[in-house]
Amino acid sequence: MNAVCHLDGRFLPLSEARISPMDRGFLFADGGYEVIPVYSRQPFRLDQHLARLGNTLAGLEIADPHPPARWRELVHEVIARNEWDDQSVYVQVTRGREARRNHGFSPDLAATVFLMSEALVTVPEEQREAGVGAITAADFRWLRCDLKTIALLANCLLRNHALKAGCAEAVLLRDGFLTEGSASNIFIVRDGVMLAPPKSHLMLPGITYDVVLELAAANGQPHEVREIREQELRSADEIWLTSSTKEVLPITRLDDHPVGDGRPGPVARKMTAWYQEFKARVMRRG
Ligand code: PDD
Repeated sequence: MNAVCHLDGRFLPLSEARISPMDRGFLFADGGYEVIPVYSRQPFRLDQHLARLGNTLAGLEIADPHPPARWRELVHEVIARNEWDDQSVYVQVTRGREARRNHGFSPDLAATVFLMSEALVTVPEEQREAGVGAITAADFRWLRCDLKTIALLANCLLRNHALKAGCAEAVLLRDGFLTEGSASNIFIVRDGVMLAPPKSHLMLPGITYDVVLELAAANGQPHEVREIREQELRSADEIWLTSSTKEVLPITRLDDHPVGDGRPGPVARKMTAWYQEFKARVMRRG
């Protein structure tokens, strides 16, 4: 079946969607986006994803084209029009199209709104059991990493460096401190305490990051939100990444050194179980 998307007020087959090359999204990567996981046709933490989209658009000075109720409707309609029960819904808003290429933008542009959906690709069980490798890399992105913009070239280069090294993710360091992954947030465990870097302009406030902190609190898992030094990362007992599509995924090798004993650690295993249980309870209604 052909995937169905939404473009500027119309639902149509993805293969028929067309965008002008004069769209500022194409010319300047001038826009924001969200990726929302969908389980059994229920979008996960939809309101939080939409709030983050609103925050991104405000930061980019793009007028939000829709009120929250209309956004919710659009996401639900894209889910309903596609064939998979578990999906990954992609929402993109760009500043819109102009007659001439121009760095400064006219205030009255009509935003381009695009939604599509793909089958949710889950992490294979063997990979979750074994964990994945990661490299460290200098975080050379801009200083508004809290905004989920479509200007992802640095993230793409960093992820690709990891893939070329046979790894799944690049763990980013800025000025000697952990920020996040190229497309994920990073947690570490030291002496039984789960540590997470605090939200700031240097990292994306992950929806999964929030869930993991809530689960730690609910289950009495000792945790702290504070700056993490490079040396603490390198000598961590456990490391894992989180994202909407990867959920909780242990990193068991960092720059070719085993993390802990080279297998997913006890806190990562507990967190994975809590996450799956939470999802089952909230999304699949038992
Ligand atoms: N990316 N940090 C970055 C830079 C990200 O791109 C992502 C997610 C996250 C995790 O956020 P969340 O838990 O809300 O998914 C952190 C998505 C999945 C993507 O770009 O495809």
